[in-house]
This record gives sequence, C-alpha cells and structure tokens, in this order.
Amino acid sequence: MEVVVCRDYQEMSKSAAAMVAQLLRRKPHAVLGLATGSTPLGLYKELIRLHKQEGLDFSQVTSFNLDEYVGLDPQHDQSYHYFMHENFFRHININLRQVHVPSGTAKDYGAFCQWYEQRIKECGGIDLQVLGIGSNGHIAFNEPLSSLQSRTRIKTLARQTIEDNARFFARREDVPIFAVTMGVGTIMEARRIVLLANGGAKAKAVAAAVEGPVSAMITASALQMHPDCTFYADDDAAAGLTMRDYYQWIQAHPPAAPTIQ
Ligand code: GLP
Repeated sequence: MEVVVCRDYQEMSKSAAAMVAQLLRRKPHAVLGLATGSTPLGLYKELIRLHKQEGLDFSQVTSFNLDEYVGLDPQHDQSYHYFMHENFFRHININLRQVHVPSGTAKDYGAFCQWYEQRIKECGGIDLQVLGIGSNGHIAFNEPLSSLQSRTRIKTLARQTIEDNARFFARREDVPIFAVTMGVGTIMEARRIVLLANGGAKAKAVAAAVEGPVSAMITASALQMHPDCTFYADDDAAAGLTMRDYYQWIQAHPPAAPTIQ
C-alpha cells in the first residue's frame, strides 16, 4: 500500500483525478469502479473540468458503482443513482449504456447480485476502483465483520453508518437500513485501487485501516493485502498515523534501484 498524505482536499482530489486521467489516456475503454459520498465529489469535479477543458474522453469507459440503498428508486434524490448522474455522469460524455449502479429496487436481489458480479467479469474486470472510507472503517457498505472474501450482496447498515448518513436525509428514520454492495472480495479484484479520506472524523478509521491488523472489523484493512493500492489522506484524516514521517519520506524519495556511487 502506498500512503500519500496531502496538504488539503483539493490536492487529494487533483492527484486522484490525474491518476484516472492517466489511465484513460493509456486505455480509453477502461473499466472504472466508482464511489459515492462527499469525499469523491472533488475528484468528480476535477474530472469534469478535465473533460470540458482538456477533452478527457469518457465515451468508451464502462463504470460500476459500489453500492445502492435498498428501497430507493433511481429518481430518489438520495439514491446513489441520482447522486452519480447529478454529480458526474450528466457532465461528461460517458455512454449511459455502459454505466452500472446496483439496483435498489430489484425483484430478486440474489439474481441481481450474481448478474452484477458476472457483468463485471464480462467487461474484463475493474481497472481502477475509487473508494471512500466510512467512519467505522467500511469500504462501500461492507460493515464490520463482512467477510474479506465477500461478493456483491445485501448488507444491513451499522448504526454508526445510519447516523453518519442521516445528514443527507430529512429525518433519521428515512435512512434505509439495507444496501446492495459490492463485496470486499469483489473490490479486491480491481487491478488498481485508490482510496480517498479527508477530515478528522476519518482519522481513527484511517489509522486502523493502514496501520492496524487486517481484520473484518475494519474492512478497509483488507487493502493492505492489495498489490496496487494508493491511500490518500488529507492532513486531518492522517492525524492518527504513527508512521506518517516515513510515508512522507518515501514520497520525497520515490523508490528507485540503488546505485553505487
Ligand atoms: C457511504 C458509502 C461509502 C463511503 C462512505 C463515506 O457509507 N457507502 O462508499 O465511502 O459513505 O462517505 P463520505 O465520503 O460522505 O464520508
């Protein structure tokens, strides 16, 4: 895992956008794994800017979102379908037929989840997966004790997650208690992963995910086992990291084969 401590949210969003742009320039038909939440908004904003001002092309991109609330239809203003269209898809030239967001209104969730997994495989797997992190250390909606090999399925949200996400709903009681989510195992199959964390409310989760033991209690800790994961944290989110100096030292001295002078 590479840990990058950023000065602020803007720097973090720009660095992550540059990573996505670099992939799309090399592989225009890349498969992106996308996340919702307030954290990736800056990344989407920067990608929209790159599209509008620098011609970054999304026309051949396929995307898969991580999760969706059970019971919210795509028009609901708190559904992740709506979030993605409003904050990203409608501003770029992505082909909507190539966009996938889990259904929150499936008749048969078992069949739907199997289809979603199958569809990711048919499209060649995810090249780059964007992640945020919950204050309890979850990725997507893989709450504590989710199997680290889990696949797309329905999860019951933790009380903490409901509290955290209540700010987006008129009333706490309106927050759905179930979600369809890619599993930790599904996420771990992405060829590359970039996780974004900002703000002091994430400091404990970030420290546990990066420096704690790999544990199903903190599903983001599974990323320690991923061969190509970049973990961005702004100053506040990085506050609990004990090896922070070392991560900054590595950034200042990018690894290269040592030479004998
Ligand atoms: C939700 C999403 C996660 C996201 C998390 C953090 O629980 N399922 O994918 O990472 O919220 O959201 P925020 O970025 O708003 O803190």
